[in-house]
Amino acid sequence: MQGSSIIGNNILKLNAVDSTNTYAMALLKKQKLPEGMIIQAFEQTAGRGQMGTNWHSLPGESLTFSVILTPEFLPVHKQFYLSMAVSLALYDYLRTKGLSSVVIKWPNDIIVDRRKIAGILIETSLKGETIQHAVVGIGLNINSNPDELSTVATSLLAETGRIHDLEAELHEVCQHLDTYYALLKTGKFEKLKQEYMSKLLGVGQPIQVVRGNTKTLVKVIDIKDSGKVVLEEINGNWWVAGFKEFEWTY
Ligand code: BTN
Repeated sequence: MQGSSIIGNNILKLNAVDSTNTYAMALLKKQKLPEGMIIQAFEQTAGRGQMGTNWHSLPGESLTFSVILTPEFLPVHKQFYLSMAVSLALYDYLRTKGLSSVVIKWPNDIIVDRRKIAGILIETSLKGETIQHAVVGIGLNINSNPDELSTVATSLLAETGRIHDLEAELHEVCQHLDTYYALLKTGKFEKLKQEYMSKLLGVGQPIQVVRGNTKTLVKVIDIKDSGKVVLEEINGNWWVAGFKEFEWTY
């Protein structure tokens, strides 16, 4: 499957910015930007994660960038498929780096051996029932020093023992993004979902989660178009959960 190479043809490199996502969203309000354009920062002073969390990485060590997309073909109620496509692109990229135990943790954390290596923050602006713009923010730990990483994080350096060239890695990530963006455009949603689910933590083998004050073993049995996850307990009970309605505890 080959992409059409639109992602990363234009790259705006910033030395320091609060957040590449914030910057990209503000720029889009002022001017048109070519689809696939990347806003990349050497340093983010207020990098943002999902649900109002922070994304921290030391200057020049890792990839922190946002991709501008105009997925007007994607109905608003199917926007989670963009998130699946981006997760799969990062998954494939990391597999090509020789990392074997990569999984996607719903909704879109990329995990290697129980530690997070990459995070995705997608922000959209809508026009009626269509997506006018999507800003796909990606934080990918590349050369973060293993001694300085938190116990729940990892980096390409920590996993491979080698320093990587950021520019070359960005180029490779873009190729994988192109491939999955092209697949998304074909509208093969079931195929995308199947691929996503095959890489997802908790599919097939039960994982412990905390819901309220209760620890429960669950399996992921489906993902709704809305992005919500369907979890099944050992006793056959199941429920549909949104982000932050439970916590993974593995
Ligand atoms: C998460 O896992 O919570 C999402 C993290 C997303 C971080 C990236 S870094 C580039 C872009 N700019 C931001 O402020 N956030 C995203």
